[in-house]
Parts: sequence; C-alpha cells; structure tokens
Amino acid sequence: MDSAPEDAQVIGLPQASSFAGRVDHLFDAMLLLSAVVVIGVFTTLLWFSVKYRHGSQAARTPAPSRALRVELAWTLIPLFLFVGVFAWSISLFAEMSRPPAQTVPVYVVAKQWMWTVQHTGGQREINTLHVALGQPTRLVMTSQDVIHSFYVPAFRVKQDVLPGRYTQLWFTATRAGTYDLFCAEFCGTDHARMGGSVVVLPAKDFARWLDANEGTGLAAQGEALFRRLGCSGCHDPQSGVHAPDLYDLYGSTVPLSDGTQVRADERYLHDSIMLPAKEVAAGYAPVMPTYQGRIGEDDVLALIAYLKSRHAPGSK
Ligand code: CUA
Repeated sequence: MDSAPEDAQVIGLPQASSFAGRVDHLFDAMLLLSAVVVIGVFTTLLWFSVKYRHGSQAARTPAPSRALRVELAWTLIPLFLFVGVFAWSISLFAEMSRPPAQTVPVYVVAKQWMWTVQHTGGQREINTLHVALGQPTRLVMTSQDVIHSFYVPAFRVKQDVLPGRYTQLWFTATRAGTYDLFCAEFCGTDHARMGGSVVVLPAKDFARWLDANEGTGLAAQGEALFRRLGCSGCHDPQSGVHAPDLYDLYGSTVPLSDGTQVRADERYLHDSIMLPAKEVAAGYAPVMPTYQGRIGEDDVLALIAYLKSRHAPGSK
C-alpha cells in the first residue's frame, strides 16, 4: 500500500466528487438569493415602520392607486431569478441522473440494516464500497425489505433505494480517501447505524484491490443459479419447453403479448424473474413460476449478470 489512502479519514465535508463543487455553487447561489430577498423585505419593513409610525409627519396623501413600473419590477425580476435557479438545478439534476454509457455497474442491495455490495468480478463487500479515483462509478441498487437511501455527503449524492425496483446513482470520485456512507431514509430500529464508508483508491490500487478480492464472477454465480433453480430446464434451446432462449436478450426490444414493447433492461429482467405474469413475451404462454420469496435480490442480480453475458453461440 504505497499511498495508504484507506487510513486517511477525511474530516469535515470535503468536495470529493465531480458533482460536489457544482452542487455547492448552486446551494451558495440559492442561499445568497434568499439572503438578498430576506434583507430586502426586512429593510423595507423596518424603514416603513419607522417612516409611517403613529404620529409621524410623513406625507400620507395622495396614496397612488397604481404604480405599474414598480409592480412589473417586483414581479418580473424575482420571476427571472427563480426560473433561472430552476433551470440551473434541472440541468445539474439531469446530468446526475444520466450515467455515462459503458460504465460497469456495481450492485448494491440494502436490507435492514446493512449495505451489501457486489462487483461484477465477484468481489463482495458489506457496508464498504471501494471505487476508483477519477473513473465514473455507476451503482445499480435495490432493497430487500423497506425503503432506504444511499447517501454520501462528501460526493453530494443521494438516491432512494426501493424494494422491487432498481434505482441508479453515479459519480466520479475526485479525491482519494475514506468517506462516510449513510442511510438517509428512516428504515427501522437501527436506521441510525446503517452506514459505512466509501473508499476511493487511485486506479492502480483499485485494480490491485479487485485482484486481491476476486471471487467467483457474478455472471458465473448467476449461471450456477440458472442451472440450480431449474431455469435452464425451460430456457435452454435444447429443452423441449416452448420458452424464450434468452440469448442476447439484454438491451434488446421485446414484443409483449399485450401488443406493446419493452426494452430488456435490468428492471425488465428483474421483474421477469420475480413477477413473470406482469410482462409476458409475445408468443409464449404465461407459465413461468415466480421466484419472489424464493431467491434474494443478490441472486436476482447474479442471474441478471449472467443473462447479460449470454450471447448466442458464434455471435460474439
Ligand atoms: Cu436504511 Cu435507514
């Protein structure tokens, strides 16, 4: 360990991701804008209170019935300012919700009261997440029970983690070190203790960490499950059952029996395993049994990793 960033516990709230500085700028601008409004309103209030206090000699007549220019100014100036803040936040939000394509996902499953992390190489972690410095990290997250929220203050990112649904979060860590990870959604007795740390390693150290912790790859785990759970009994091309053979499924467009189409993304694969009656592929009978309650979210993620790796023989 040459730079030993793991031991360098960072104190305070550093800006440790590419979003951090920009979120802070937005926050500062909103704080400044609010301060200007508050100071403006209270200064006027005090000034008028003194000027028109009971018994003062200030002229009270004739009261103007309208002052178009003043009214337009106090309507339009705040309108433009606040619409500007809205546009600014929306553009930042949109960027934060769109991870760059081709980013390898890291899978996160939340459960009362811990975070489990699986990397595609089979590396598993609990309440710790190792990421590479300067490279985009994309998390695909779900919950085994109730709603949790993945929150790393130093990165200025937070995303709800929901049961029965995948949510995404991405960031590029820009400072090596160890940063706090919190659950930011009340999720039961030990909610306050549900946390851990994100360890940002320089790319070289991260590659070394991946090598040292390599396990059975997620796709290989999924393949073993695919056989053990009996999926292959129907979904192998050699099987006599009329079921989709699942080659090159991920990312493709699947026509459904109700005439609509769906993109075979992680959400679709998850639901097809857990809620198979929901979206039935066109041309097939809705005979697949549900695996809800039989396998955990970790298993579903392994199966999805396997399905993503499954290409028709000779195609790739
Ligand atoms: Cu999990 Cu709060």
